[in-house]
Amino acid sequence: MRKGIILAGGTGSRLFPVTLGISKQLLPVYDKPMIYYSLGVLMMSGIREILLISTPQHIASYERLLGDGRAYGISIEYATQSEPRGLAEAFIIGAEFVGANPSALILGDNIFYGAGLIQLCSDAATKKDGATIFAYHVRDPQRYGVVEFDAHTQRAKSIEEKPTKPKSEWAVTGMYFYDEQVVDIARGLKPSRRGELEITDINSAYLQRGELNVEKLGRGFAWFDTGTHDSLHDAASFVRTIETRQGVKICCLEEIAFDKGFLTADEVLSRAGELGDGSYSDYLRRCVSDVAR
Ligand code: DAU
Repeated sequence: MRKGIILAGGTGSRLFPVTLGISKQLLPVYDKPMIYYSLGVLMMSGIREILLISTPQHIASYERLLGDGRAYGISIEYATQSEPRGLAEAFIIGAEFVGANPSALILGDNIFYGAGLIQLCSDAATKKDGATIFAYHVRDPQRYGVVEFDAHTQRAKSIEEKPTKPKSEWAVTGMYFYDEQVVDIARGLKPSRRGELEITDINSAYLQRGELNVEKLGRGFAWFDTGTHDSLHDAASFVRTIETRQGVKICCLEEIAFDKGFLTADEVLSRAGELGDGSYSDYLRRCVSDVAR
């Protein structure tokens, strides 16, 4: 079974003073905590065993919010990262959790949306060998990991972390699917010049082995990372626009669980009861009655 890791640590320093008293990935993105969006994508991929990693200071808040995962028909375990030593450390912290299984890592501050996303993630999750990552065309590639594609084969040629002279405008997004080699690869990494265990070095290792598949997310997709005040505001506005226009929610965990068969209609209704009479629980009731109609 593929295991999922959500990395929700770091200092959130670019959002100070907002994140002085709260973990960044618990901030609201319109009507839900930020962490719902990454957890929702793992669930859409069919992943039900999840490890959430955050700082020792904040981990209890996540446990309070998400519990053991039963409310969403999944299981959630928790672990801490004492210092932000790099994204690749997730696989060292999570080595025992991952065991000899394939896994997926998603950053708790990334938001994905678009037609066909469920199919794309489910396909990546069912692939047995190698790694699958996703690239998104951006205006400011130097802020990200950047993939260079071969002009003829369209296969990835190189990946660089925050290059000053990017070789393309395709940024690596914060969602990564790996086979069981990833823990050993992570254990063999040396810290980069900025002192971090880089996820880009894991991806480059798969690239060198000829085992890296890079999927381009085209124009029909939205991808946000919510690291700055502006990008956080943009993401919230986007979610609000889609949700109010269409009357459907983006990354409502109970709805995803219901669609995937992780929760029964009765379980969704009982969850709605626990959440009181706000618009979120009304929505859960509507999800169940829409299917019954
Ligand atoms: O968002 C996609 C980008 O994420 C990729 O394009 C880059 O290749 C990848 O390195 C990463 O770049 P960032 O500059 O966004 O990484 P950042 O240090 O901001 O960390 C991303 C999130 O992960 C952030 O919410 C904090 C959290 N984090 C970060 C580190 C370094 C941790 O939980 N632990 C860590 O050790």
